[in-house]
Amino acid sequence: MAERVVLAYSGGLDTSVAIRWLKEKYGYDVVTLTIDLGGKDVAGVREKALEVGAVKAEVVDAGELFARSYVFPALKAGAVYQGQYPLATALGRPLIASLLAEVAMEEAATAVAHGCTGKGNDQVRFEVSLAALAPQLKVVAPAREWGMTREETIHYARERDIPVPVTVSSPYSTDENLWGRSIECGVLEDPWAEPPEDAYSWTRSVTAAPEQPVYVEIGFEQGVPALLDGRERGASALLTELNTLAGEHGVGRIDHIEDRLVGIKSREVYEAPAATVLLQAHAALESLTLSRQQLRFKEGVAQEYAALIYDGLWFSAMRHDLDAYVESTQRFVSGKVRVKLLKGAATVVGRRAPHSLYNHGLATYDKGDEFDQSAASGFIHLWGLPLKVQAQSQLREEDDR
Ligand code: ARG
Repeated sequence: MAERVVLAYSGGLDTSVAIRWLKEKYGYDVVTLTIDLGGKDVAGVREKALEVGAVKAEVVDAGELFARSYVFPALKAGAVYQGQYPLATALGRPLIASLLAEVAMEEAATAVAHGCTGKGNDQVRFEVSLAALAPQLKVVAPAREWGMTREETIHYARERDIPVPVTVSSPYSTDENLWGRSIECGVLEDPWAEPPEDAYSWTRSVTAAPEQPVYVEIGFEQGVPALLDGRERGASALLTELNTLAGEHGVGRIDHIEDRLVGIKSREVYEAPAATVLLQAHAALESLTLSRQQLRFKEGVAQEYAALIYDGLWFSAMRHDLDAYVESTQRFVSGKVRVKLLKGAATVVGRRAPHSLYNHGLATYDKGDEFDQSAASGFIHLWGLPLKVQAQSQLREEDDR
């Protein structure tokens, strides 16, 4: 009996060709696994896999799990790679890896396969995650092994009656899930060229966006977004709705020169409307409910968290450790944030929290001032004391030279 391989199947050209290639080259029986992380149309994918030659084709809806267990922890941590990329694709990979391992177990498969090339981060994320979760599985990376150009892949497909999707005429390589859409290749590889309008599909251009703003109110519960304009929303529904709304107003386009883990600088374009709004809104609520020291320390944690997601280390002790810290910081991060969406911009215009640290009596310049201004001079005296002492003893000496 032939050995089984479970292939992460998107329904696109490369993974369709991989079904046939795994059979021809290694004699595998191929079980395909398509994982819907939201933001993507998976209709007809099962039929297509079987038609191309899979012995079995599974489609799993993992949107809610993805939102709750991957996206929201990253949101609470404030994870953004290199100040620009909210990490949609990077967050999806460990979940896909864990489902691959699970299905491989169920199907008594000896191997799993993915469609990544040898130049990107995704191969690393898949294989590092699989090494952590299911080290007994062999991992095959057809697209990395076969070394075919796009033209050759199309030729290979045509020769074997593998349907070549019309979208192959699209010059871009894309990946979508609830946290965002990644777009690369084609004219985008020229970092000087402005991304053409056809690279975008979730967001309107600023010129085409409505002239009138819309306001959206997001309710957070210990760092997790739970309400949209006062109505309770499940995790994936909230993200889907916010992607549509903010996308219509042109919010969430990102043009990033990114440092890949494999050492390449690349030009990456993203659409992340919901992520853009939520990361800002969440930060706004934290600025109201966390102390100055917590905010400062958490900035460093956010960077570490982003790096480990980007670098494929989701299933690491480090992530558990950082989660514990982040979770602790979120216990009073509940409240509401009002965001204005207008012409490509998401602007926080209001925030309130039951455990806010903002004290009007202390902050006001009007009547009702409770801040003891006379205490300020004593504070300044002591705060500046060590500076004064050092300046007299050492700095003057240096200035004189
Ligand atoms: N550069 C991004 C990352 O490494 C996006 C990768 C997009 N993948 C794709 N198949 N288009 O996370």
